[in-house]
Amino acid sequence: EEANLQKSNQNFEEFLSTLPRVYGKTPLFDCYLYQGCWYHPSLLQGVIAAQQQFEAQPTDVFLCSVPKSGTTWLKALAFAIVSRKKYSDHSSHPLLHTMPHECIPFLEADVVTKEHTNNRTGEFQLLATHIPYHSLPKSIISSGCKIVYIFRDPKDAFISLWHFASTVMSKDSTHIPLEEAVELFCKGVSYYGPYWDHVLSFWKARREAPERVLFLRYEEMRKDPLPSVKKLADFIGYPFSVEEENEGVLQKIVDLCSFENLSDLDINKKGRHRPETPYAMDNNAYFRKGKIGDWRNHLTPELAERLDQITREKFGGTGLPL
Ligand code: A3P
Repeated sequence: EEANLQKSNQNFEEFLSTLPRVYGKTPLFDCYLYQGCWYHPSLLQGVIAAQQQFEAQPTDVFLCSVPKSGTTWLKALAFAIVSRKKYSDHSSHPLLHTMPHECIPFLEADVVTKEHTNNRTGEFQLLATHIPYHSLPKSIISSGCKIVYIFRDPKDAFISLWHFASTVMSKDSTHIPLEEAVELFCKGVSYYGPYWDHVLSFWKARREAPERVLFLRYEEMRKDPLPSVKKLADFIGYPFSVEEENEGVLQKIVDLCSFENLSDLDINKKGRHRPETPYAMDNNAYFRKGKIGDWRNHLTPELAERLDQITREKFGGTGLPL
């Protein structure tokens, strides 16, 4: 088995060497281009394995996003919604001692093998992925399972990524200069980028099958979370009853999953995520500011305009916010 593993790793290395590559100053901007999307090498092997092997069930629900768009929040909310009967007493809720990423399997890292599919109990399952729509494993499309997509102002997603890349992925290196990072981001070179094409891939899928794809917008949720959380619960088949709403169950879930609450928990301040894997990370890396418009503290009007211009070009006429 070990020999097989070695061989497949060797084949993968050979395969990688055939792909276009960008060498970044920090690992997050060190990417390979595969099917029009820039991947960090540590996850690309999982992406390909998922494409080859993953068998979706019609009852699966996929939480999809570009990194830094609010994935952690969406995972916490979806998990809290589907498990609310089991954990009605929030004082012992798993989210108080488990990082949201650990509550929901991540397709390209956790669930790539056939064994996973075969070991399923047939139950409803929440899963997460950052793979763009056009590269999703075929079974996800053909099984008709539901997809929730969260997205955000590209300027804030960019600033969030820039912080993540510079201060977390490589503690020893200096911040990648902002101008250089904007340049790369505009060219599409960023983790799972081009950012805009990723959003558009799901937007197109939503237009074709609105009953299968729900779009959530970070800014709307931050201003007024209740309507979006209600929509999310309806969409994944766990609607809140009138009694639940009257008893404040919805509000309690919103409070439990709020940035203020989650970022202040010990597990998210001090814990470490997937410590034994190549994706090991301090949990606090996923909780920075949680604000709308933090880009204003970093981007000059010129740099902001560069990003806005691409947003207008790519999203103009689609119905996506400009
Ligand atoms: P900032 O860097 O702007 O603060 P992802 O989870 O996709 O990696 O996105 C991370 C971004 O979501 C970070 O944005 C992070 O602070 C923010 N975030 C994390 N948890 C959140 C929550 N519960 N509510 C709102 N924003 C949250």
